[in-house]
Amino acid sequence: MPTPSTVILGTGSFAPSRIMTNDDLSRIVDTSDEWIRTRTGIRERRIAGPSEKASDLGVEAARRALTDAGLTPADIDLLVVATFTPDQPLPSCASLLQKKLGIPTRSACFDVNAACTGFLYALDVASAMIASGRYRRALVVGTEKLSEVVDWEDRTTCVLFGDGAGAAVIGASEEPDRGLLGCLLGCDGSSADLLCIPGGPRDPASPPGARSDRLQMKGREIFKLAVRCMDESARDILEQQHVRADQISLVIPHQANQRIIDAIAEYLELPADRFFVNVDRFGNTSAASIPIALDEARRAGRIKRGDLVLLVAFGAGLTYGSALLRW
Ligand code: UT7
Repeated sequence: MPTPSTVILGTGSFAPSRIMTNDDLSRIVDTSDEWIRTRTGIRERRIAGPSEKASDLGVEAARRALTDAGLTPADIDLLVVATFTPDQPLPSCASLLQKKLGIPTRSACFDVNAACTGFLYALDVASAMIASGRYRRALVVGTEKLSEVVDWEDRTTCVLFGDGAGAAVIGASEEPDRGLLGCLLGCDGSSADLLCIPGGPRDPASPPGARSDRLQMKGREIFKLAVRCMDESARDILEQQHVRADQISLVIPHQANQRIIDAIAEYLELPADRFFVNVDRFGNTSAASIPIALDEARRAGRIKRGDLVLLVAFGAGLTYGSALLRW
C-alpha cells in the first residue's frame, strides 16, 4: 500500500427540515409506499424550501465539517463543490459558498459536475491539488437541490430523489498510515442519454411544461450499469491497493437504491452490515449522497481509527468511481 498524501480531517452534513414520505408522493403521482419501499428501499426524502438553494444546504454541511476538523473558513485555501443543481448557471456554486462561508479570496473555488459520482471526483481533484503542495486545506462539498430538476409528474423518477448536502475537510496527511490510499474515476459517455436533462435546467428555449428541462432516466438500464460499474470499480481499487474485500470495515456506496447496494454486497461477497445505508431516509441525493453517508457513519461510530473504508459511486455521464481510505 502506498503512503497516503491526504487525509479527511472532518465531515459534516445537512438536510432540509421538510420530510416528504412515500404516502405524500402517492398524493402527487400514481404510486404507493409499498411499490417505492420494495423497489428502492426509500421511505422518505428531504425537500428544500423555495428559497433554500444548493449553496444554502452546502454552507451548513461545510460549517459542520469545519467545526469537526477544528478549523475555520480562514484556514481553507481550496473549495471544490460537486453539484449539478447549482443555485444559478453562473457564477459557480463554489463562488456563492465561498462568500457565505467567508473563505479567503486568495483561495481556489470551483464546481465539479460528475452527477452522483461528483463527490469522488471532487475528492480526487482536491487531494491531488493538496498533494502538489500548492494548497494546504481543502473543503470538498457535495450539495444538491434535486427537487428543482425532477419531473414531479413522472412517477418513474420523482420518487427516487431528495435534497441535501455533505462536506469533508481535506489536508496533507502527517501520518504515513492514515488517509486516502487511492481513488479511481471513470466515465462512459456513450451511455450519456440514459440519465440526463437534455434541455438544461434553465433552457429558455424549452416551452413551459416541456420535460426537456427535467431529469429523464431509463431506470432499468441504469440499474444494470450501476451494479456492474460499482462492482468493477470496487474490485479495481481493491486490486490496485492489494486489499481483499473482507479487509474492508465499511463500504459507503452511493445511495440510489437498496437493491443496487444488495447486489454489490452479493458480488463482493460481503455481509450487508459492512455497508452503510441511509437511502431509506434521504433517497438519492446525487453528489451529496456519499458525504452525507460518510458523516452519518462517522457520527454513529461505524468508523474507527485504522479502519479501511471503501467509497463507491455511479451516476449520470455515465460516471463511476471508488476511493479507498485508511481512517
Ligand atoms: O444515481 C443513479 C441514478 N439512478 C439509479 O440508480 C436508478 C436505477 N434504477 C432503479 O433504481 C430502478 O430501475 C427503478 C427503481 C427506477 C425502477 O425499478 P424497476 O424494478 O426497474 O421497475 P421498472 O422500471 O421495471 O417498472 C416496473 C413497473 C412498470 O409497470 P409495468 O410496465 O410493469 O406495468 C412501471 O410503470 O413499475 C411501474 N412503476 C411504478 N409503479 C408505481 C414505475 N415507477 C413506479 C412508481 N410507482 N413510482
